[in-house]
Amino acid sequence: MADANPFQDPLRFERRVPPCAIVIFGANGDLTKRKLLPALYRLAYERRIPQTFAILGNSRTHLSDEDFRAKMKESVQKFLEDAPFDESVWESFSKGLYYVTGDLQDPACYEAIAKKLSEVEKDHQTGGNAIFYLSTQPSFYADVVQRLGDQKLNHGAGWRRVIIEKPFGHDLESARKLNTDIQGVFRETEIYRIDHYLGKETVQNILAFRFGNGIFEPLWNRRYVNHVQITAAESIGVEGRGAYYQEAGALRDMIQNHLLQVMATVTMEPPTVYDADNVRDERAKLLRSVRIMKPEEVPLYSVAGQYGPAKVGGDDLPGFRQEHGVDPEARTDTYAAATFFVDNWRWAGVPFYIRTGKRLPKRVTDIAIQFNAAPLSLFRQDTKSGLMTPRPNLLILRIQPEEGISLRFLSKSPGSGMRVRPVSMDFNYGSSFGERSPTAYETLLVDAMAGDATLYTRQDMVDASWQVVQPILDGWANQKFDFPNYAAGSWGPKASDEMLARQGHVWRVP
Ligand code: BG6
Repeated sequence: MADANPFQDPLRFERRVPPCAIVIFGANGDLTKRKLLPALYRLAYERRIPQTFAILGNSRTHLSDEDFRAKMKESVQKFLEDAPFDESVWESFSKGLYYVTGDLQDPACYEAIAKKLSEVEKDHQTGGNAIFYLSTQPSFYADVVQRLGDQKLNHGAGWRRVIIEKPFGHDLESARKLNTDIQGVFRETEIYRIDHYLGKETVQNILAFRFGNGIFEPLWNRRYVNHVQITAAESIGVEGRGAYYQEAGALRDMIQNHLLQVMATVTMEPPTVYDADNVRDERAKLLRSVRIMKPEEVPLYSVAGQYGPAKVGGDDLPGFRQEHGVDPEARTDTYAAATFFVDNWRWAGVPFYIRTGKRLPKRVTDIAIQFNAAPLSLFRQDTKSGLMTPRPNLLILRIQPEEGISLRFLSKSPGSGMRVRPVSMDFNYGSSFGERSPTAYETLLVDAMAGDATLYTRQDMVDASWQVVQPILDGWANQKFDFPNYAAGSWGPKASDEMLARQGHVWRVP
């Protein structure tokens, strides 16, 4: 959607961003091209970052500043999605783009970065404020941070911060070690662990919906909620990320971080104040209340899947094991589902079903809160079969696409006689606000520059979510799976339906 003039809207300026430089490690990578640079350009376009701002890219590929600018221009134009590209804005934005060629394992690389950073500080008056954005292979994170410390780049004339991309660790133990290593160089308040789901407008809106309104919160507990389903389905496969994905799998890639954070957002207690410490205290407390599965519970409460080849809409889709860079015998989960329980007074006994997968029928992320049915069915359901199937109230928080919220309830069907039919009350982001929402990376980058860590994960949150996921990983390591166990383009393995059926529930079709 084309914007109205973004410079005229005072609300856009609510967050003051101080002068700063951002050093991107992994500047030739996919994330920089697809997400970071388009987000930073967009922030410049909207004048949400000051003129006194510069970007310093690093990777091993030999590039001059000019080459880097040309490459980034191409990426921004390609990945800007629904936002306009403006040559004159690019012209001034790109004057602040610099590049240092260097190998992350070579101390000379950090000397070169330190030198360039101090030049950039002078030329762009960034006040010595700097963010180091780690978008490299995760196995380098600890090393890069250590070398930043060796080069004393963790201190400067202004503030210093480090943003760590996911995945934060490969398991509980490595996540703890990574925390210790990073905290040996940066203070916790300087560490920004990114989980881009927390930056999504619709995920933030869950808190607005719950705590900005008086009418929902009284229903938001085990007395009224029957169960909750969280779905993050993707129709794409692994898209050239086979090598990474093969080691990660769906449980690590989506549930350990994004979906447990979404679940915490849906279930946490209200913070007393909306700020980084209070919000994150509540998230962490909730994650600590998620029941840890015992080894014998893992097969009952979790399901792993891997897609096999299939013909979908005339296209031959490969199975995961046929994807580029993937071992033909890979045991990777490309689908993961689990039943979680939150052992606190509000949620005791309510199942939370989470599922995610690649090559499912469509791309959709939503949260469906199913309420208890009315105690007595007085009315006949107006269905083709005429059966009295109970249709309980359902509240759907649509994260993407078609962002919005729907409430399903029963209404009298027109005509004589009292027959009822489910209808829905809908709120749709696009039509209600009529303006483009910032992407998660725009929001999170501005927050990090402004020093607001509310939407970033904290050490105790990461630790708690690994504690939840680790027993499932351990259990799966000892289980024999008959992979592939779902066809590309289907809704996942049969075992997932069976997991819900054991509790008398069914997955809804989003
Ligand atoms: C990333 C995962 O963190 O999130 C990807 O590594 C996944 O595998 C992506 O595709 C999904 O993000 P979004 O914003 O497209 O839902």
